[in-house]
Amino acid sequence: MLVGGMGTRLRPLTLTVPKQMLPVGGRPMIEHVVEHLAAHGVDEVVLALGFQPDAFVAAFPDARCCGVRLSYAVEAEPLDTAGAVAFAASRAGVDETFLVCNGDVLTDVDLSALVAFHRRRRALATIQLTPVEDPSAFGVVPTDGSGRVLAFLEKPPPGEAPTNLVNGGIYVLEPEVLATIPAGRRVSIERETFPGLCGSGRLYALGSQAAWLDAGTPRSYLEANLLHAEGVPLPAGVAPSAVVERSVVAPDAWVGERARVERSVLMAGARVEPAAVVVESILGPGAVVGEGASLAELCVLGAGASVGAGEELVGVRLPEP
Ligand code: GDD
Ligand code: MG
Repeated sequence: MLVGGMGTRLRPLTLTVPKQMLPVGGRPMIEHVVEHLAAHGVDEVVLALGFQPDAFVAAFPDARCCGVRLSYAVEAEPLDTAGAVAFAASRAGVDETFLVCNGDVLTDVDLSALVAFHRRRRALATIQLTPVEDPSAFGVVPTDGSGRVLAFLEKPPPGEAPTNLVNGGIYVLEPEVLATIPAGRRVSIERETFPGLCGSGRLYALGSQAAWLDAGTPRSYLEANLLHAEGVPLPAGVAPSAVVERSVVAPDAWVGERARVERSVLMAGARVEPAAVVVESILGPGAVVGEGASLAELCVLGAGASVGAGEELVGVRLPEP
């Protein structure tokens, strides 16, 4: 599982917590991903780590998550997606068909069916595809009728994508693919490895209509949380006169009298002071919104950030990343 990126788009949240350790519905994002893998019979996951590796090791002290055995491969320098896969696979001694997944993708796609398709086609590599509205933010993957990949176009200019089926960030790979990844430098699986494999005729892809979300931007991270908003109980620290709607509020967060919180995430120890309004925004650990202040349109407060009483912020990141 690739979990070593810098989480740039989620700054300032990721200045203190790596992306896949940020909470989604009150649990670290990575737990949702591992749980899904476990449901399809995966019993061992190698975390390809780079940026802030200690947070992962500390979160799973017995090296288990959702019944799955974890091991760690920590890159000295970021090796990019293919470099990270090759490094982690060699550390773990992978010598059979294996799965790769981006650690920020939340989905219930049928992985068993993906592996079965891969085997039927005798593929070297199979990419899971998902339809999206704007393919320009993803890897665009046109295929022929049998699922053979014709090209791999990472983040093409808007309007130029030949299909809206994109790389879902989950792959089935044969160990032979590892030999095609040069060692000792950054290698992108999207820009180098997959385009290189197109000519082999053994790179396949399979689309699915399953729920799928890349939680790597403030908007999609918020969306991922809101999908869990119904299941998360309101904590004791919410004042009786406060209104909290469709939000995920950490157990020790605090919302004062007459405050209003809508479609937002309040992480551990966050505080919304009396009469403040927080709409479609994300409060990192210990962030504080002062009395009567208001936040709207995807404000993102990093750990410990504070907004003064009466301030009105729209679409602001604090601190500015
Ligand atoms: N270990 C390691 N080392 N992990 C890395 C590195 C690295 O150098 N660089 C990125 N990663 C991890 C990230 O932490 C993330 O889990 C995953 O690789 C993908 O990186 P993102 O930064 O999230 O990529 P993206 O969302 O822009 O695009 C990727 O995902 C899309 C699907 O969500 C691409 O694979 C697209 O083709 C794809 O459509
Ligand atoms: Mg991503």
